[in-house]
Amino acid sequence: MTMTGSENMDNPDPADFGILDGISEVIATTRSDASTPNAAPIGIIRDRDRLCVQLFSGSHTRQNAAGTGKIVANIIRDPVMYVECTFGDPGPEAFEYPDGMDYPVLKRASAWILFECNQSKGNMFELTPVRGMIRDKPMLCINRGANSVIEALVHATRYRLNGDARYLDLIRHYDKIVQRCGGSAEKEAIARLKEIMEIR
Ligand SMILES: Cc1cc2nc3c(=O)[nH]c(=O)nc-3n(C[C@H](O)[C@H](O)[C@H](O)COP(=O)(O)O)c2cc1C
Repeated sequence: MTMTGSENMDNPDPADFGILDGISEVIATTRSDASTPNAAPIGIIRDRDRLCVQLFSGSHTRQNAAGTGKIVANIIRDPVMYVECTFGDPGPEAFEYPDGMDYPVLKRASAWILFECNQSKGNMFELTPVRGMIRDKPMLCINRGANSVIEALVHATRYRLNGDARYLDLIRHYDKIVQRCGGSAEKEAIARLKEIMEIR
C-alpha cells in the first residue's frame, strides 16, 4: 500500500521521514559552486535531537557541503541507485530542483529533507532541517537482501580504501544472502557491484 499525494514542509521533523536515533542511510545530494549535482550514500547520525553527518576528506559531498553550507538527505530504497551513487554519479536527468530551491534532489526519492550543514569539529557537520517533502510512504517489511546490498557496498568502499581482501569475502557472503532473500532489484544491484569490482 502506498500513500499518494505529497506533503511539502518547512522546518520538517526528521522523525516523520524515518530518521530516528542511530544511523540512517540516505543518498545525500549536493551541488558544487559551479552547480554540478552530486549524489552519494551517507549515514545521518541522530542522537536524541542532535543530527549530524561525518564526511570524510576527499569526497565531492564533503567539498560541496562545506562550500555551500547545505546538503539534501534523499530517502530512497532503490538498491541499484545506491550502487551507482557509491561508485559514480547518476546523470543530470536523475536530479530535479523543487520550486524555489537552487539545490538538487533525486527525482525518484520517496522523500527528501534539505539541511543547513555546518562543520562543527573535524569531519563532523551539524544538520538543521530547513525544508522537506514526503512524496510516498511505502509500507515495507525488512528485507535481508536489501540490507545485504548496503552492507556489501560499505565493504566495497572500505576495500577501495585499503585493498584488504577480507572485504571481498564479506561481499561474497552478502551476495549469498541477496541471492536467497533479495528481489530482482537487489540481485541487479549486487551484480552491478560485482561487475564494477570485478568480483566473480
Ligand atoms: C551505505 C553507505 C554509507 C556511507 N556513509 C558515508 C558517510 O557517512 N560519510 C562519508 O564520508 N562517506 C560515506 N560513504 C562513502 C561514500 O558514499 C563514498 O565515498 C562515495 O564514493 C563518495 O562520493 P562523492 O565523492 O560523490 O561524494 C558511505 C557509503 C555507503 C555505501
